Amino acid sequence: MLQTFNEKNRNLQVFIKDRLYPREAAKVSVFDSVVQGGDAVWEGLRVYPEGIVCLDAHLTRLQESAKTLAFADIPSKETIKKAIKTTLEANGMTTDSHIRLTLTRGEKITSGMDPRLNQSGSCLIVLAEWKPLVYDNDSGIKVISTSQRRNTPQFLDSKIHHNNLLNNILAKIQANVAGKDAGLMLDDHGFVAELNGSNLFMVKSGVVYTPHAHACLPGITRKTVIEMCEKLNTPLFEKNLSLSEFINADGVFATGTMGELTPVVEIDGRSIPKDDSLMKSILSHFSKTIRSYCEPLSND
Ligand SMILES: Cc1ncc(COP(=O)(O)O)c(C=O)c1O
Repeated sequence: MLQTFNEKNRNLQVFIKDRLYPREAAKVSVFDSVVQGGDAVWEGLRVYPEGIVCLDAHLTRLQESAKTLAFADIPSKETIKKAIKTTLEANGMTTDSHIRLTLTRGEKITSGMDPRLNQSGSCLIVLAEWKPLVYDNDSGIKVISTSQRRNTPQFLDSKIHHNNLLNNILAKIQANVAGKDAGLMLDDHGFVAELNGSNLFMVKSGVVYTPHAHACLPGITRKTVIEMCEKLNTPLFEKNLSLSEFINADGVFATGTMGELTPVVEIDGRSIPKDDSLMKSILSHFSKTIRSYCEPLSND
């Protein structure tokens, strides 16, 4: 499903480093680390009238990713929240919005990889857009397995939510070429890791399974679903799962902030049912309770 330009986003205000800029002036330097080496970390956030879904967990992941990458000056949660609040207020956004939150290592004094060339501090970007959920969660999505393997900690730990997204973009290109919605990525042992931009779950005989988070992003929506199943006394296991197990599942769904919970109705041309009662009850429970995970931005 290809996103389209939303006229409501023409006159956005974007926060960069310490202030807001109109959309056409919202730019980073050619010396910025994200341009030089994809050297940045990011989060996707969803805005509801009640607040931002799992905000604290997203900010923790952003800060931890930046710490792993040895960023010198990581902004506090309070600073980031203030920047988000300023941006949402400037755009009059209280719902139906998505925020792309990025922290780059900042500008370099000259081009090069070395973080010692970064001498002017990190750069926080808050890009908030009017954006509905990216998938049609009634009809579901079709996916194809790709030859592009998802990174394991041996190469680049998938627990770092970094902007070096080429691993996933190559998988997405393969899905595009095949005319499918997303690329399914395997790990280095051939087990299912995740889709190029969301995590995967499957249901079989009343049990829910999801791959270990060894070679996938430990998604925050994934964690919400795991905790939700625990609360509902639904058996759930993290396990190595093969493509064959997914293809023969009673139901498969993807999870992520951009699309929330999305049935996967086809893998490599094989149909996957989307009427499994357990899967349907998880999807409907999620929709009913998602707003209870929203955290408001404070007024001070
Ligand atoms: C590769 C990948 N997997 C999964 C997800 C879903 O993560 P979350 O549920 O935290 O949005 C994302 C979201 O950014 C992602 O980029």
